[in-house]
Amino acid sequence: MKIVRTVSEMQQLSKSLQKEGKSIGLVPTMGYLHEGHQKLLREGRQQNDILILSIFLNPLQFGPTEDLDRYPKNEERDIDVAKNENVDIVFMPSVEEIYPSEMSHNISITKRTNILCGKTREGHFEGVVTVLAKLFNVTIPDNAYFGLKDAQQVSVVKAFVDDFNVPVNIVPVATVREEDGLAKSSRNVNLDTREREEAKYLYRALLHGKEFVEQGETDPKIIISAVSQFIIEHTHGKIDYVDLLSYPNLDHISEVTGDMILAVAVKFNGARLIDNVIFNKSGKLLYT
Ligand code: PAJ
Repeated sequence: MKIVRTVSEMQQLSKSLQKEGKSIGLVPTMGYLHEGHQKLLREGRQQNDILILSIFLNPLQFGPTEDLDRYPKNEERDIDVAKNENVDIVFMPSVEEIYPSEMSHNISITKRTNILCGKTREGHFEGVVTVLAKLFNVTIPDNAYFGLKDAQQVSVVKAFVDDFNVPVNIVPVATVREEDGLAKSSRNVNLDTREREEAKYLYRALLHGKEFVEQGETDPKIIISAVSQFIIEHTHGKIDYVDLLSYPNLDHISEVTGDMILAVAVKFNGARLIDNVIFNKSGKLLYT
């Protein structure tokens, strides 16, 4: 396994692999790897000749009051995980390597960001898309793997590559959960014992909302309110949002119809957690 820390070396390497006719898979991450990331790596390993894992804690996607400083890190352990998953190349550049000087362009996103996380995390998705534009240009992947735990990210990134004809196939991967249902996240380690215990209710709240759909409820407001109530009853967290939208377009809906995403964000002292379920109008889970 090769560790590459500079843009120029990574780009050269990818160019020559591409010339040799090798297919390249990229799994972009911010490190502190867990089984969610590992699932992306396994899919990428199966579907490509060369598997690249990028580890870069991207400051551009964190707001001034967000948890960039508290984001967990463990480079050594991440490298071990990468070796175990048969990664070929770990690309782990420094911030200076990715952002050597102030940029003279910035990406602005006009759709799918005025809802869910985009509403409160101003500039977040612009930061995500900017770093991904760089990572795609540097690693030149055929396929890039993204977890549906961050379903809005998948939608925004897919729209970006479609808009700009970026020659990369975006592969969505189902959410990996702890035994009690909590979606795996690097941020879970920042929860205290009580918060960790309460965090399992996020997924339960989503399933509770989905049950309404299964039982024929068609009014999104009733479902959203039932999910919010469930979270309030079972946790001390502060609800950032609960929403039911069309999937993958993320439009507001006035009635249960087509494929939908029921998504939540809840702020605990230790971390802000997000989760979602994607299902059809009969309440059948998609992407499991
Ligand atoms: P990060 O939070 O490290 O996540 C990297 C990838 O792992 C993302 O595609 C995310 O959706 C996926 N992932 C995280 N938890 C998961 C889980 N429980 N199950 C399945 N997949 C999961 O998302 C980012 O980093 C950044 O925004 C990035 C795309 C790297 C751009 O900086």
